[in-house]
Amino acid sequence: MLFGCSNNQKECIDNQINPNGDSELAIVMRNLFDNSFEIKNLIIDADTLKSNKLPSELIQKFNDNLNLLHTAKPTDKNLRDDGVYQAFANAYINTSEKFTNNISQNNFNAMVNNCIQCHEKFCLGTIQKINKLYIRK
Ligand code: HEC
Repeated sequence: MLFGCSNNQKECIDNQINPNGDSELAIVMRNLFDNSFEIKNLIIDADTLKSNKLPSELIQKFNDNLNLLHTAKPTDKNLRDDGVYQAFANAYINTSEKFTNNISQNNFNAMVNNCIQCHEKFCLGTIQKINKLYIRK
């Protein structure tokens, strides 16, 4: 492995990714975080949940960012060499589609869980920030 770091969550949290980097993928990730945060705030609201609908522009932006997970240039040029990243990305895309097809707090949390699983695998840090997306019930 390129990363000599165990799957220990603490280590992962403390591990900064790219303090001064703004790769295409980093920007996609930040956008995904923002989209997800906006979605979270909407689905905390019972009426939104009941209608099972989110603003279409928001879903469009979110899906556009999802589509970039496989192509945006990462900081680590070798990120996509062994297929591990792609497998985690597909798992995440899968739960995201489940969520957009059926808007529920549980499906949202399942999606956040997939963000974190990939971050744990790659010891990418920012897990504490992603944890804030969870809807606590
Ligand atoms: C398939 C693996 C994977 C999934 C799924 C994933 N990430 Fe990431 N994330 C990465 C990688 C790799 C980077 C480093 C990007 C780079 O520097 O090129 C990263 C970086 C980030 C960053 C830091 C960006 C910066 O400012 O440098 C944030 C925030 C982030 N991800 C949030 C999320 C959120 C929120 C989700 C779910 C909505 C998510 N990630 C899902 C792999 C993943």
